[in-house]
Amino acid sequence: MANQKIVPANAPVLEQLLGWVDNRFPLTKLWKEHLSEYYAPKNFNFFYFFGSLALLVLVIQLVTGIFLVMHYKPAAAEAFASVEYIMRDVPFGYLVRYLHSTGASAFFIVVYLHMFRGLLYGSYRKPRELVWIFGVAIFLCLMGEAFFGYLLPWGQMSYWGAQVIVNLFSAIPFIGPDLSLWIRGDYVVSDATLNRFFSFHVIAIPLVLLGLVAAHIIALHEVGSNNPDGVEIKDTKDAKGIPVDGIPFHPYYTVHDLMGVAGFLFLFAAVVFFAPEMGGYFLEANNFIPADSLKTPPHIAPVWYFTPYYSMLRATTSDFTHYWLPVAMAAAFVVWLLRARPKAIWVGLVFLVAAAAVVALYNFDAKFFGVVIMGGSVMILFFLPWLDRSPVKSIRYRPGWHSLMYIIFVIDFVILGCLGTQEPDAFKNVVSGIGTLYYLGFFLAMPLWSQLGKFKPVPARVTFHPH
Ligand code: HEM
Repeated sequence: MANQKIVPANAPVLEQLLGWVDNRFPLTKLWKEHLSEYYAPKNFNFFYFFGSLALLVLVIQLVTGIFLVMHYKPAAAEAFASVEYIMRDVPFGYLVRYLHSTGASAFFIVVYLHMFRGLLYGSYRKPRELVWIFGVAIFLCLMGEAFFGYLLPWGQMSYWGAQVIVNLFSAIPFIGPDLSLWIRGDYVVSDATLNRFFSFHVIAIPLVLLGLVAAHIIALHEVGSNNPDGVEIKDTKDAKGIPVDGIPFHPYYTVHDLMGVAGFLFLFAAVVFFAPEMGGYFLEANNFIPADSLKTPPHIAPVWYFTPYYSMLRATTSDFTHYWLPVAMAAAFVVWLLRARPKAIWVGLVFLVAAAAVVALYNFDAKFFGVVIMGGSVMILFFLPWLDRSPVKSIRYRPGWHSLMYIIFVIDFVILGCLGTQEPDAFKNVVSGIGTLYYLGFFLAMPLWSQLGKFKPVPARVTFHPH
């Protein structure tokens, strides 16, 4: 056989064993390609901890999930009691459940910071578009995973949260009502719904998630990691073809990442042992009451990680769609007209007239637009690699006011998140409306604003200060 590795007969047993495996499976090759000879930029900073932490949380969720399934009963009549049984009677069951529920929130904290890092350093730009696209698909899966999982304890919030979200599908024209019935498997959220959500939460989505995470990392290792300077380290190689600004991932970043893991576990354990409900943000009080299809809780809100998007849904009132949105779109159109090429103007006009005709013809209600805006606010992330036209990748070399745009974006997202946890009123709706417009405007107008301003020169080599 070609490429056979010949191990001397007197070599140590472990070396012989490795030789035997390598002649049948590319173990050493994989180790080298992805760890010991994967050259990562030497200037990674704090934000680069979150990829490995996302992997860690994924493992925590899978392991604790396996143990929860051993005792959980996916039936409307038994689910709530089986969770209480896990909490009170199963040895260390409370710990496994708190690790899993806290892990869900930790996942989103880590992933939001991981995505933000991508935004800051332009990690979604060429040649990492697919790394980003796989990432957004992972984000969608995570949202689905969290949503399906939340029904399983069969508490009041599980039940009514699912009811509200599945009902949103009924706002889709023509197929909506049938679609939501099909998703539920019944006219209300019921045993049938619980069974299918269980199946999706426990097997279907985790499988897809694992596949996507593998694709995400394979794609990243194909092109190499970006870094806080947005400089391609592969452009400057030494005589052996090794990037001069690169260091082997193992042992340098495995050790570095272990430090992140230690810090993370410290905080994670503090929450699990001392504040697993996190004041109602990680586990809501209403969910300690068994689901009751006859008693709607006065205030239904999703878990914190969904609330920015929930705010956008609630902000889309009929006032918003009748006055705010058309005015914002008209303003955007005028700005675009000032810069677009004549051919594009005609295409834009035709598109606008067609969209106005469809809206006028079908008289869609605000709920439908709410669903479109909420879904669109996540889907738009897929297009980020092509929306950003800045001549440089990293925020470090962009004009100062670009940083301000990002700071406002983060504040906006946090405000939307906070408002989504609270009961709505007229003032909060106005704030959510403004927040929604900023969120959408940030991305939709990005092709324009990302090119404007005075950019700083990008160095050929990464900036690195040894510590
Ligand atoms: C289960 C969730 C996820 C896991 C386990 C994961 C894992 C990783 C790992 C291990 C890396 C390399 C280390 C690093 O650069 O931090 C990475 C890089 C990256 N991830 Fe993720 N990721 C996840 C979700 C996401 C999401 C949701 C996005 C974006 C929507 C994303 C976008 C990226 C990008 C752009 C890079 C390259 C960063 C760079 O080179 O600067 N990832 N990911």
